[in-house]
Amino acid sequence: NGYELLRDYAKGFRIGAATNTIHYSNSNYIEAMKSFNYMVAENGCKFVSIQGTKGKFNFNDCDNHLKKAKELGMAFRGHALIWHAMAPQWIEHEDSNTMKQSIINHVTTVLKHYEGKIDAWDVVNEAIDDGSNGNGWKFRNSFLYQKVPDFIDIAFKTAREVSPNTKLFYNDYNTEAIWAKSESVYQFVADMKKRNIPIDGVGLQYHVGINVQPQFNKIDNLISRYCKLGVEVHITELDVSCDDNCNDYDGGEGKQSQVYTNALKACLNNSCCTGFLVWGIGDNDSWRGAENKPLLFDSNYKPKGQYNTILNIL
Ligand code: XIL
Repeated sequence: NGYELLRDYAKGFRIGAATNTIHYSNSNYIEAMKSFNYMVAENGCKFVSIQGTKGKFNFNDCDNHLKKAKELGMAFRGHALIWHAMAPQWIEHEDSNTMKQSIINHVTTVLKHYEGKIDAWDVVNEAIDDGSNGNGWKFRNSFLYQKVPDFIDIAFKTAREVSPNTKLFYNDYNTEAIWAKSESVYQFVADMKKRNIPIDGVGLQYHVGINVQPQFNKIDNLISRYCKLGVEVHITELDVSCDDNCNDYDGGEGKQSQVYTNALKACLNNSCCTGFLVWGIGDNDSWRGAENKPLLFDSNYKPKGQYNTILNIL
């Protein structure tokens, strides 16, 4: 297809992207996917996609992602078991005890279905409050927290019990050493380790922009502290909105490439950082909006300057 593939330079390092089956009929999309060796479903493996009706598990879309990953020789990351968003309506109205059982049942059934096929899962997504100030942490006041305050512990313990070989991740945004919340999430993960809650990794979503971007030293230092804690790190959902500066996007030298550079270098600099994923293939597909040109491929699935930036670092 006329350009070099990231996966050919990755040498075992997992470089991935979020994909969506709605685009699989587009051969340009599939060609661009082939550059990666790791995949996550943008939406297809979420609670509402799999169990939109209580007790009726529909694995079709998640399975179809996994099938394509296999076909293209990509490893697959699971996202996400328990999250306050993209959860089905029915669970929000359950009483505490019923909801607790529903959490256990979802985690158990999904992990068993994918046993041996998906080696890392986001067990809980976005459970720490944005206002956490770096001095301890506040839990997000979601329906989950209100009804089942210990839902995080329950989800991780259940996951370990039913699928001991799966790597269990906590995943969140604003965790990239810009805002105070990143320190709070670190302390929260450290506390889980201290209390022997089975957690193997942390996902730093890395939805950022070119105007306020993570500094290399800070993100490098944060990742190294996670390593010392004994957890792995994945950069799970990287995209970089160019906000009001979208002419600065394709030179490979601009501020946007700087964000990609810092993120990848900081990850490669720390041996516990074992995965690096962008949140989508082409700019047109991005949840940040095509006008923000946040990804590595343009809307015609041609690699951008940022793509070459990444390629040259690998
Ligand atoms: C987003 C998807 O990209 C959108 O298509 C969907 O409408 C909403 O969810 N944090 C996460 C991801 O963990 O699951 C979200 O994905 C983006 C923010």
